[in-house]
Amino acid sequence: MKTEDLERAFEAYVRTFPAEEMNALKEAHTRRVLGNARLIMAGEGFPARLGPLGEAAALLHDVGRFEQFRKYRTFSDRVSVNHALMSCGVILRLGWLDDLPPADRNAILRAVECHNLRDLPPGLPPDEAALANLVRDADKLDILTLLDTAIATDYLPSHPEVYWGLPLRGAPSPRVVAAIDRGASVDYADIRSFADFVFVQLAWCNGGLFFAESRRLALARGEVATRRAYLLGLLPDHADAVNHCCDVAEAALRKEAGHGA
Ligand SMILES: [Fe+2]
Repeated sequence: MKTEDLERAFEAYVRTFPAEEMNALKEAHTRRVLGNARLIMAGEGFPARLGPLGEAAALLHDVGRFEQFRKYRTFSDRVSVNHALMSCGVILRLGWLDDLPPADRNAILRAVECHNLRDLPPGLPPDEAALANLVRDADKLDILTLLDTAIATDYLPSHPEVYWGLPLRGAPSPRVVAAIDRGASVDYADIRSFADFVFVQLAWCNGGLFFAESRRLALARGEVATRRAYLLGLLPDHADAVNHCCDVAEAALRKEAGHGA
């Protein structure tokens, strides 16, 4: 399976949907996730045989988004469907991976299926776990970049829907801060404010990025520094919590020991 062939099939599929902003956003997101996945695989020295599989998983992870938006006019899984499962359904229906050996096909499908889970299920076979962690890291790195752009363009005050309609200047939730302290993933039910929403991303920096190369990329892109500056300006009364969470996240990114690959 050549990645270029799959990219052509993906592009042709996307062209069957209206050329509207939301579809263009998801197509651009997919390209950047594919780019992140390539950087991670190169940095981590992935075996050559996994290269095309990792690229396929990155390229296809959100392919269900187009059908989701056509049917439900939203990207919120909570009020529509699980878009990762929808992606698997599209891949299977169109037979894009039918030529692959079953183990390779399953590894790609597993990575797509698991990309939006809070945590990976334990005990995955090594190739499935490698591809799943790859797509999850590449996806998170792009979401981190998206907030940078939103901050730089002052997009957020007039678009509360991108942070679930939560108060932009609301106080951080102690439960979210505690999760970051523990290096745990945040329970989305604890999110009460925009700061909590950003802290979820800081939690990714502390234990949520599997590969050392992903942490290096997040650090090189200044992801924590951007968030610290923005949140300190937004929430001067909560500078202690902001600085604490940013310090924890930054220290975690700098720590190279104990990485997963
Ligand atoms: Fe996704």
